Order: sequence, then structure tokens, then C-alpha cells
Amino acid sequence: MTAWVDTGRFVREFVRDPLHTASVTPSSRALAAAMVRAIPTTGSPVVVELGPGTGAFTRAIQEHTGGRARHLAVELNPRWAQLLTERHPEVDVVQADARDLARLLADRGLPAADAVVSGSRGWRTPPGPTAAGCTP
Ligand SMILES: C[S@@+](CC[C@H](N)C(=O)[O-])C[C@H]1O[C@@H](n2cnc3c(N)ncnc32)[C@H](O)[C@@H]1O
Repeated sequence: MTAWVDTGRFVREFVRDPLHTASVTPSSRALAAAMVRAIPTTGSPVVVELGPGTGAFTRAIQEHTGGRARHLAVELNPRWAQLLTERHPEVDVVQADARDLARLLADRGLPAADAVVSGSRGWRTPPGPTAAGCTP
């Protein structure tokens, strides 16, 4: 049921802003499982998720790390940042541009990420400075 509701959300957001939404469906569970496979599972890895959308990868990251990750999710769309905050109170969800990642990490006293999971193939942002590890 949630999957259908989320697909509806994607279609609406795609109509509203196709450039940033970049898809009409959320990622599948199979893709999410493949995306998180390389994340370290020992200790409390710092995991950055860029463009979490409705949370397809968010849930997979939490499951893969057993909820032990220091998980920062950076979402540009305020409606989805709000939705994700409600769905995953255990995740540090911030409504921001992925290009500000270096500052967002510094604000939290995090020198680096152990893993970065990107929810988009390319960042749809105006030209400008890029965060470490993000190629718009
Ligand atoms: C193709 S969707 C992927 C959503 C989700 N990760 C999934 O796989 O179902 C791309 C996501 O990236 C977000 N996004 C696009 N540009 C962004 C930016 N500059 N900073 C942060 N998020 C961005 C969009 O709002 C959207 O949630």
C-alpha cells in the first residue's frame, strides 16, 4: 500500500518539478538492497544519503546497519524532508542542497562520511560550488 501511495507522491512531485524529482517512481527494494550492500556494518558508520525522496534507501540503510549508523539524509524537497522526518525519527533528516554537504558535516562535527549513498544519477542544481564527493 505504501508503495502505491509513494508512487502517487512521485508522480505529483515529478509534474511539479521534473528536473529535481528525476523519476516517476521510488526505487525498488531490490535496488535499495544492492545500493547499501557496501556500507560498513561494524561500529557506528557515518552514512550520508543524498536525495532520499520518500525513503526507499533510508529504510534499507537502517536495516543494513541495524540502526547503528550515524545517518544523515539530505533532501532538497521540503515536503519529502518532512515526510522522511516523520517516517524515520532515528535519522538526521535535513532539508538542504546536497552541494552543502561539506558544511552539513562540519556543523555536526563529522570530519567525513564512511559511505555516501546517492539517490540520483546526477544533481540537478544550478552551476556553483560543489560539496566534496558530489558532482552536479
Ligand atoms: C530520483 S529521486 C530518488 C529518491 C530515492 N532515493 C529513491 O531512490 O527512491 C531523486 C531525489 O533527489 C532529490 N534531490 C534532487 N536534487 C537534490 C539536491 N541538489 N540536493 C538534495 N536532494 C536533491 C529529489 O528531491 C529526490 O528526492
